[in-house]
Amino acid sequence: MTRAEIDRVLAELKELKCKTEKEVEEARVRFLGKKGEITALFEAFREVSREQKAEFGRPLNELKQAALARIEELKASAAGSASAEGPAQDLSLPGEQFELGSRHPVSIVRQEIVDIFRKFGYDVAEGPEIEDDYHVFEALNFPPNHPARDMQDTFFISAGHLNPLLLRTHTSSVQVRTMEKMPLPIRVVCPGRVFRNEAISARAHCIFHQIEGLYIDEHVTFADLKQAILLFAREMFGADAQIRMRPSFFPFTEPSAEVDVSCNICHGKGCNICKGTGWLEIMGCGMVDPNVLEASGIDSKKYSGFAFGMGLERIAMLKWQVNDLRHYFENDLRFLHEFEAATEV
Ligand code: PHE
Repeated sequence: MTRAEIDRVLAELKELKCKTEKEVEEARVRFLGKKGEITALFEAFREVSREQKAEFGRPLNELKQAALARIEELKASAAGSASAEGPAQDLSLPGEQFELGSRHPVSIVRQEIVDIFRKFGYDVAEGPEIEDDYHVFEALNFPPNHPARDMQDTFFISAGHLNPLLLRTHTSSVQVRTMEKMPLPIRVVCPGRVFRNEAISARAHCIFHQIEGLYIDEHVTFADLKQAILLFAREMFGADAQIRMRPSFFPFTEPSAEVDVSCNICHGKGCNICKGTGWLEIMGCGMVDPNVLEASGIDSKKYSGFAFGMGLERIAMLKWQVNDLRHYFENDLRFLHEFEAATEV
């Protein structure tokens, strides 16, 4: 052991730099651990002669105290800079991106349709998704056990009593609720989610959306219905859109019709979307049956009205040529991102 050895270790200690707590611990082991440099000096000290003990004892002890103090000092500064752990931050990197979502195609179409009817003076009305038999069927002129109830495969929530709870199968229930509480004349559209017990396929789903229209006033005629739907079709599908009506049946309208719009893809020439016919079916409609008016306390001698209802997924399918209904409910981002351009921010 020499004095030079002690001085060298002391100099090394002074030079020591540690960025992290892990590095401080490594330094502690290097100097003061079982096999550390200072520990080795103390071992060597045991072997030296008496005179040398007198010479080296004090500087050796001072070295150990200096090492302990230096390690404590380094530990404190490493803990003070917590971010020193791990690689340094590169402040020139671009920031984290927050992806903006886009509107769902069904919501885009609903808004478009609502906006068109608002221009015609219609309000928006909504009603509950969990309904009772009275508002979905009874008040809409579906007598109990009438086969027309089979047109709509219903999810019942409670069965067995006179007015069971169920998931509404159509938005026509909101017609009834509106007639019950709103003053006449009534002009509303009712968008909403509906439920039917159907096997899920490309063309059918157990959940979908409809928008219902209802207009009740004195002297409302079938000609008014036809005109309202023609104006709507031109706003929605283009100024050259044509409509045609085919006789149909709904218990709550008489007469009833299905409405087709001219195919805006092939312009009547025939394509696979319109299956070669040049026409696309878009909605059901008709003059509100007097029984329905009377059930909600409206005088059917004085008032008449029309109603229509269409499926939003169907309209969106025609608009964007979506070939599978299931896309609307799977939330696959590859599908949803396709509608970014149609989303107005
Ligand atoms: N509620 C009917 C259906 O779901 C659509 C409809 C509404 C028909 C209003 C006529 C009048 O099929």
